[in-house]
Amino acid sequence: MVTQHDVVIVGAGLAGMRAAIEAARGGVDVAVVSKLHPVRSHSGSAEGGINVALGNVADDDPDIHTFDTIKGSDYLADQDAAEIMCHEAIEDIIELEHMGCYFSRLPNGRIAQRPFGAAGSPRTAFAADITGHVLLHVMYEQLLKHEVKVYEEYFAVDLAMDGETCTGVVCWDLVNGGVKAVAARSTVLATGGMGRMFHGTTNAYACTGDGMAMAFRAGAPLKDMEMMQFHPTTLKSNGVLITEGCRGEGGYLRNSEGERFMAKYAPNALELASRDVVSRSEWTEIHEGRGVDGCVLLDLTHLGADHINRALPGSRELALDHAGVDAIDDPIPVRPGAHYQMGGVATDVWGRTPIEGLYAAGEVACVSVHGANRLGGNSLLETVVYGRRTGAKAAEEAAERRPVEATRTAAGIDMVRQRVNRLLATESGPRSDELREALATTMYDNLGVFRDEAGMTQAVKDIAELRARYDEGVVVQDKGDVFNSDLTYAIEVGYLLEMADTLAQCGVFRKESRGAHSRTDFVERDDENWLCHTIVRRTPEDPEFTIETAPVTITKHQPKVRTY
Ligand code: FUM
Repeated sequence: MVTQHDVVIVGAGLAGMRAAIEAARGGVDVAVVSKLHPVRSHSGSAEGGINVALGNVADDDPDIHTFDTIKGSDYLADQDAAEIMCHEAIEDIIELEHMGCYFSRLPNGRIAQRPFGAAGSPRTAFAADITGHVLLHVMYEQLLKHEVKVYEEYFAVDLAMDGETCTGVVCWDLVNGGVKAVAARSTVLATGGMGRMFHGTTNAYACTGDGMAMAFRAGAPLKDMEMMQFHPTTLKSNGVLITEGCRGEGGYLRNSEGERFMAKYAPNALELASRDVVSRSEWTEIHEGRGVDGCVLLDLTHLGADHINRALPGSRELALDHAGVDAIDDPIPVRPGAHYQMGGVATDVWGRTPIEGLYAAGEVACVSVHGANRLGGNSLLETVVYGRRTGAKAAEEAAERRPVEATRTAAGIDMVRQRVNRLLATESGPRSDELREALATTMYDNLGVFRDEAGMTQAVKDIAELRARYDEGVVVQDKGDVFNSDLTYAIEVGYLLEMADTLAQCGVFRKESRGAHSRTDFVERDDENWLCHTIVRRTPEDPEFTIETAPVTITKHQPKVRTY
């Protein structure tokens, strides 16, 4: 079955819904395809806030926000893209408020802003510590208002291609079973990240690199894939995020000796240094024997019950539920966890990929605003600014393209049906969760906060073996049509393995330390040789990939030594 629209958005998190709303405003027929109900998207777990230089509480402006973003990126961000994001933020955040987002307030009624890491002044607007959840619901209301068709619980398996043009997406219908295609003149990927390839990740089970893998297989280049961000404060038991807002509200990080150890590593910014710096500091404390059961301690007790209950109620609840700690009385044990993929599908500042008809926005994309280290609060911002821009461009260009011939998606449907049938027919071999577990172990061990050649090469080897076992066939025990999560998980693990391969190989390739890519065998940043993006690509026919470099766009800010 094929349905047709002008624009199809794959993924219904914040970037996807924002793109859909803007495309609908462009007067074209828009649909969203999502493997989850939109309000269950992973954007909902963004907690601490969204950056914008409103200048409400301190001297701030979009230029300072841009500079902080570029410095934070360890000078790997494309500066034109960062400028656009920081300058367009103000109108976008005010629009969010007009849409109905209830941001927390200052006593004078203005939007409150809290300090976040590596920001020169309090710049992060927030709704207590459930900001992503609030934005997601507001955006969903807007989606309904704009009468965008949502194919809920449609799992995108592959892009539909007509030669070198993307003509939509081929999906597995999770509710009813069966392969269905949604044809469109413009296709926007907004499928989020790929953190599930690591143990100890903040990412939801849905974050399996689907969009990156689909685009990659179709020939789209991926950029800076080695740049996985580790968030400094995650729970050991399950990777659940304890927001940076805790430190923004005044929380301390202590080691087993009770020392506020960040004073040694970032004497000015302390707990509010950039995430890569804080994660490395924690790791060092833990591995030099000053940790507490593999963690450091996030201490909020001095803030008092009123402050915690008003500003950080979600964090208190998460620590109670998942670590058995009441943050009012006791510090929360935390450690760095895989949080955000700063690389992704290479796009221009309108979300366009080099493939005709294919766009990307949000974490799946690399418009390159985060470079080697993202500032907390800039991911939500990227979703709204670049979601909007991408939706607008996808709609405008859809109107210029000729309609997709439905029959042209038939080949894509057949290929996906064959893939599904092959998976369902496999009776022996490993289960996909076994492969995912092994993948997550080697990624955590070898591509974590610190890396070196030997570890990363080991990961490349492990991944190659896992990919070979996957290609021989994984067993799907559930042979049914309805909510066959065994089947979809098997497909997702295929995406994860391929994307992990790009991450590990790009990691070996980049012979320096920059931002989150911190090598113990190349400890310095090397601007002479490595002030460049990594670009990895393959063709649809050949799974072998190549890695090359591309220049970083520098407008105003020449790289400097980065200290906090
Ligand atoms: O810590 C946090 O609230 C996460 C925010 C982000 O990653 O932007």
